[in-house]
Amino acid sequence: MTQDTVRIFDTTLRDGEQSPGCSMNHSEKLTLGRQLEKLGVDVIEAGFPAASEGDFESVRAVGEALRETIVCGLARTGVADVERCAQALERAAKPRIHTFIATSDIHLKHKLRMTREQVMEEVERAVTQARGYCDDVEFSAEDATRSDRDYLVQIFSVALEAGATTLNVPDTVGYTTPDEYAELIAYLKANVPGSDRAVFAVHCHNDLGLAVANSLAAVHAGARQVECTVNGIGERAGNTSMEEVVMAIKTRPDVFAGLDTQIVTREIYPSSRLLSSIIGVQVQPNKAIVGANAFAHEAGIHQAGVLKAPITYEIMTPESVGKSSSELVLGKHSGRHAFRDRLDELGLVVEGEDFERAFKRFKALADAKKQIFNEDLEAIVADAIVSTEDRFELGEIAITSGTFPVPSATVELLIEGQKRKATASGVGPVDAIFKAVTELTETKCDLIRYQVHAITSGMDAQGEVSVTVSEDGRRVIGNGAHEDVIVASAKAYVHAINKLEWHKRRRAVDGPKGV
Ligand code: KIV
Ligand code: ZN
Repeated sequence: MTQDTVRIFDTTLRDGEQSPGCSMNHSEKLTLGRQLEKLGVDVIEAGFPAASEGDFESVRAVGEALRETIVCGLARTGVADVERCAQALERAAKPRIHTFIATSDIHLKHKLRMTREQVMEEVERAVTQARGYCDDVEFSAEDATRSDRDYLVQIFSVALEAGATTLNVPDTVGYTTPDEYAELIAYLKANVPGSDRAVFAVHCHNDLGLAVANSLAAVHAGARQVECTVNGIGERAGNTSMEEVVMAIKTRPDVFAGLDTQIVTREIYPSSRLLSSIIGVQVQPNKAIVGANAFAHEAGIHQAGVLKAPITYEIMTPESVGKSSSELVLGKHSGRHAFRDRLDELGLVVEGEDFERAFKRFKALADAKKQIFNEDLEAIVADAIVSTEDRFELGEIAITSGTFPVPSATVELLIEGQKRKATASGVGPVDAIFKAVTELTETKCDLIRYQVHAITSGMDAQGEVSVTVSEDGRRVIGNGAHEDVIVASAKAYVHAINKLEWHKRRRAVDGPKGV
């Protein structure tokens, strides 16, 4: 890696996962971790091992599975946290321990109740301890942008002397502005003795909508690691959006002279879609780079221009970020090989029994619907990945509905290997299905939101349903796709209840989590 490489540190599985409704279970984290490796990120922050048993296991599993990418675990500076993080990374090919403590007077006074000297001692001790376990250690000064600059210089000097290889300057509360942040990075680089021995990293939150702009300004000032998440998910207003930073650097070589990332940009869109399908949160249509309208030209004058020469209104091509147009890709005569090849091209990872389920579903869909598009395949794959941790599996369903019968539904669920059936009536068929599922699963959750959208155009398009449910203050989103929106609704609801079940089991073992 040269001085001209901007390292991409992806924290979708840690900071991203902390945002409401975005939590992922173990196998979902592994699936996304594998895709992030394919995307070419330099570092994957896989979790916070001391926070929970689930996080510990996820960091361990991602570290074990990935051989190319640095896998990082987060730890507060406490002895037990750093030790736990090291244990989780024991079998990782390329481990990194990321330890952090707050440095602003606001946090010292109200949260840590520690003096500046005590924090400094803690940094030295934690980094030294971490270096005892691994050569790659990152130190973060939480709330750096509201910390005293000269105190930050002292803190980073201590961390560097103790062996930190990456020094991170987080804008934890999304407070800074591009000029101010660039100045801070330049100041730290100029004043921390031996600063050229470390990589300066930036980690921004988007509270003022400035996370990407701040990160890019910091790159100009010499930062060489950007911490970010796919689709910009994260605490509150989110973290720096990976795809926006990467494509800004790539699209403007004149501005970011000589700089580049190692990201395989055609994997951006598949990564974005995979994340959305796992967490059930779609990006807004006008989201830069990965939104549905990011490359859509509506105005006639724009369309005419693009037809004559794409450069008139297109500063990058959809293909460069892996977004192929909604072309017809497969039909009912396509076989297993064609199906597998197409999934590979789209970067959709599905193996073993999940692959068999996806192929069966593809055949059924191809029978019902003449044209199968890329978006259909993405939905099929998302649907076919059944977590081994799922307690409930949807079986057959039947409904009665219309203008005069009372809507009713019979639903079959496989619960820990046992087939069970329930019938319920409701104000409509979806309500009836949800009631039958509620009875079978004995859930006490409330339905917060129900959304349905067509995956592609056409009367026979698959419907994608997303439901948000909440139980005991925990909100989760489930999704499901099918050419029959009633079936899609049942899938989405069962998906959400499985997620709640997983959280209940995890909470029973771990207690609450979070930084
Ligand atoms: O926002 C933040 O400060 C963090 C640190 C733990 C790096 O997420
Ligand atoms: Zn953060």
